[in-house]
Amino acid sequence: MIELKLKKNAKKIDNFLLKFLKKQKKSLLISPMKYGVISGGKKIRSTIIFDTAKMLNVEEKKILSVSTAVECIHSYSLIHDDLPCMDNDLIRRGKPSTHKKFGEATAVLAGNSLLTLAFEIISEKKNFLPSKHKIEIINLLSYCSGHTGIAGGQELDLKFENKKKNFNEIIDMQRKKTGRLFNFCVQSVAIIANKNKKERRFLGKLGEEIGLLFQLADDSLDIKGSKKLVGKPIKKDNKKGKSTLINLIGYEKAHKFAENLKKKILRKLKKHGKNSNDLIDTIKFIKERNF
Ligand code: IPE
Ligand code: IPE
Ligand code: MG
Ligand code: MG
Ligand code: MG
Repeated sequence: MIELKLKKNAKKIDNFLLKFLKKQKKSLLISPMKYGVISGGKKIRSTIIFDTAKMLNVEEKKILSVSTAVECIHSYSLIHDDLPCMDNDLIRRGKPSTHKKFGEATAVLAGNSLLTLAFEIISEKKNFLPSKHKIEIINLLSYCSGHTGIAGGQELDLKFENKKKNFNEIIDMQRKKTGRLFNFCVQSVAIIANKNKKERRFLGKLGEEIGLLFQLADDSLDIKGSKKLVGKPIKKDNKKGKSTLINLIGYEKAHKFAENLKKKILRKLKKHGKNSNDLIDTIKFIKERNF
């Protein structure tokens, strides 16, 4: 059921992106960019956007651009995450990593281009969101992607290798590297739905907690997952001396923490009643998934 939903959403994103790229001038980077983002990955972040839109009664056509932009940024972050200077991984989504297939320099440039493409997609004239919303969304996406978000979190992740870091330091790093983009997924829909500042912040924080839960599950899959199902190498975090919650407090306690976090998130969604059913399904999948 959830697999079907993910596949359906993935197709919409892939189509939107292919159409967008088709209108642009050709370049050598299009092929590695497509390799990094089209037909691959769960597209869980855009699915969170679709689910939140259902919850807040926002029409689907209004969220296609932000959903596609998020997947471009996510894929850029993975292309760079796999580089030899970062996690040095050769397999991603069951295929050779982008740098393995196209070379390091091309992977860096394709990653950069996916990052900027995200902002091009949101700001383009044909995107019929009001200018005020576009600016707020671009501002939020910048905050969630740069040194206060993904890039800053990735820097901490690398600096924390083989260091003894405490609970709060690890959670802060994971919030930044993974949580922030999920914050964007939920909060951008709140912007489009014209929610007030307080509600926007509440929903953004909720998204960030979903992202934290997602990273905790990713860390568990590194230990107990199947390489075939996750499509990337497993048992790598320990080898690299990554600071994860599991390394700090052990698998069982980390599992319990994640379970409590999930319950806390679901409690916060109660006030949305049946409208939040799709989002709830996705959150449950995030916690229990095996891919
Ligand atoms: C992997 O993300 C990186 C993390 C933030 C844990 P995903 O598990 O969403 O990767 P894909 O897009 O499905 O390959
Ligand atoms: C990646 O975290 C987080 C990003 C923001 C790219 P990981 O390094 O744990 O992701 P995987 O396990 O390689 O997918
Ligand atoms: Mg990493
Ligand atoms: Mg990695
Ligand atoms: Mg991982």
